[in-house]
Amino acid sequence: QMPEKVTIIEVGPRDGLQNEKAFVPTDLKKDFIKGLKNAGITEMELTSFVSPKWVPQMRDAAEIAASSLDNRGRNIVLAPNRKGIDRVYTTNVKAVAVFVGVSNTFNQKNINKTTQESLDELAPIIKELKEKEFFVRACISTAFYCPYEGKIKQEDTLNLCRQFVETGVDELSVADTIGMAAPHESYALFSSLKKEFPDVLLTAHFHDTRKLALTNIFAALQAGIDRFDTSAGGLGGCPFAPGAAGNAATEDVVYMLQRMGIETNIDLEKLLEAIKIVEPHLSRPIESTYYLRHAHQ
Ligand code: HMG
Ligand code: MG
Repeated sequence: QMPEKVTIIEVGPRDGLQNEKAFVPTDLKKDFIKGLKNAGITEMELTSFVSPKWVPQMRDAAEIAASSLDNRGRNIVLAPNRKGIDRVYTTNVKAVAVFVGVSNTFNQKNINKTTQESLDELAPIIKELKEKEFFVRACISTAFYCPYEGKIKQEDTLNLCRQFVETGVDELSVADTIGMAAPHESYALFSSLKKEFPDVLLTAHFHDTRKLALTNIFAALQAGIDRFDTSAGGLGGCPFAPGAAGNAATEDVVYMLQRMGIETNIDLEKLLEAIKIVEPHLSRPIESTYYLRHAHQ
């Protein structure tokens, strides 16, 4: 049955901006994050501690993490490896997202390791993070389709999720990296996840390449999912996943949920104000329906 309340995990400052070619000034990123919190966002991916050679946009991760922390909500940063985790330890952040692809080819293009090599590196790191009382989220990329390997078997996705749950993660964020899933596939995978992992926070992460993100979210809601990664303005995409467009736009998702009577505690007006902070610095126009209809009235 449908949830009465949904948690939005805002990924705009991370997934949204990582795909922007031109560097967005650090101060603007901080204002964007502040604006999103003012709009009611309680969980957010702030930045990622990845190689600045691979993703130059995230080179100010330490500064963003240092300035954007407050006691409001859950402030998450991404880290792919030991070096990233050690950088996180120099900050006050207490929530980390690791990320791995179900598809080997994608994982190699994204973090230069096979899926198994990533798991082997991350398992002891996750154990250590839990001992240090971190919140740990595992982002599972190419859970439905891979830009290199095509359709991914549901059993392979479930297997990788199982291995992460065994390491002790608190949350699985399961991703349609290139926006190829269809609603029946969303319903099937999230129903299985819900059944198999009743004690783990389950989150759905849809990219909107083929404009099916909202319907995939609706299907996941029907499977009982009540946590969604979305990106203000619909920004985003992984630089190492050809064909990945932006995430489901936070404002379109919140609008749909409001219309369905599902509570999110997010203020749409304030959300638009936050998007306007970064809009002039983006390389492409914002295409979310709610923003286009309401932002400049
Ligand atoms: P590598 O070249 O194999 O790494 O890259 P390495 O260990 O050989 O190190 C090479 C250099 O990078 C060294 O520096 C390291 O110090 C440095 P040098 O000696 O050449 O000066 N280095 C680092 N620097 C800062 N932070 C680090 C770090 N690690 C090494 N953590 C690596 C491996 C993982 C670093 C690289 O492949 C990388 O940074 N990949 C990140 C890719 C990325 O950010 N992708 C986007 C996020 S995932 C995503 O968007 C999907 C998601 O949204 C869900 C979905 O939609 O599917 C989550
Ligand atoms: Mg993504």
